[in-house]
Amino acid sequence: MDHYTVIGHPVEHSRSPAMHRRFAELAGQHIKYDRTLAPLDAFVATLEAHIAAGLKGANVTVPFKEAAFAWAHRLTDRARQAGAVNTLALQPDGSWLGDNTDGVGLVTDLKRLGAPLGGARILVIGAGGATRGILGPLLAEGPSALVLCNRTLAKAQTLAELFGIEAQAMDALAGQHFDLILNASAASLTGELPAVPAGLFAGASLAYDLVYKPGGTAFERWALDNGCKASSDGLGMLVAQGAESFRLWRGVLPNWQQVLAEMKEGL
Ligand code: ATR
Repeated sequence: MDHYTVIGHPVEHSRSPAMHRRFAELAGQHIKYDRTLAPLDAFVATLEAHIAAGLKGANVTVPFKEAAFAWAHRLTDRARQAGAVNTLALQPDGSWLGDNTDGVGLVTDLKRLGAPLGGARILVIGAGGATRGILGPLLAEGPSALVLCNRTLAKAQTLAELFGIEAQAMDALAGQHFDLILNASAASLTGELPAVPAGLFAGASLAYDLVYKPGGTAFERWALDNGCKASSDGLGMLVAQGAESFRLWRGVLPNWQQVLAEMKEGL
């Protein structure tokens, strides 16, 4: 049976094993998918030990996505743009391809939600690794504006320059309108709110938090309380990026919407 794993540190709470096993079941395929905790200083050694034992592919999570980017023999364009790899796939010639499915996962989920993309004004909050992974696929949808803001403005400016978009200070956003507001900052992980003006949400169509949390995140509640029409957490992005990894490995796109519904019910 082909063996896949998710490698991270920590990794015990990863929902990828349950998700990929269910993808395989629904697609009528038999795979083994488990978790691998790599020591912080031994990502490559841990990965290569699994490869020697026959590994066919891996998902890579925090904090090893940049290390996987550096290690992969070949990269997809979107992995190169993201500067990070979340999916490794063994190729027929024995080489390893590094891909990044986070951005396409986000856009797929935004489309499921009917979010405004083409011609829309989009604001992205945060300028870390998560943001870098989503900017290329968002730009490909043809927004009329894609604006980046961050607690530390200089980081937003550096990233904005890389993608040819605009960076703004958080407090300079007051009075502006956006159709879609994405929270890609790590603030939600600690229950904090990014310091953007609350008035931004009035009239926005969707506030999307890349973090997922049963019952919704503080950012979602805050957006709705301030007049945003709808909100979502990032569970759908997680499932859709996983489905793209599965497709890369197995050649078929699994029924991710069914798995998303099951995960919402506690899978
Ligand atoms: P990731 O890979 O998840 O994006 P990261 O590279 O550590 O993680 O980046 C974290 C992002 O969340 C940064 O944009 C960070 O802002 P700074 O660049 O100013 O550090 C942002 N962030 C973290 N905590 C935040 C908070 N409480 N409010 C607003 N932004 C926050």
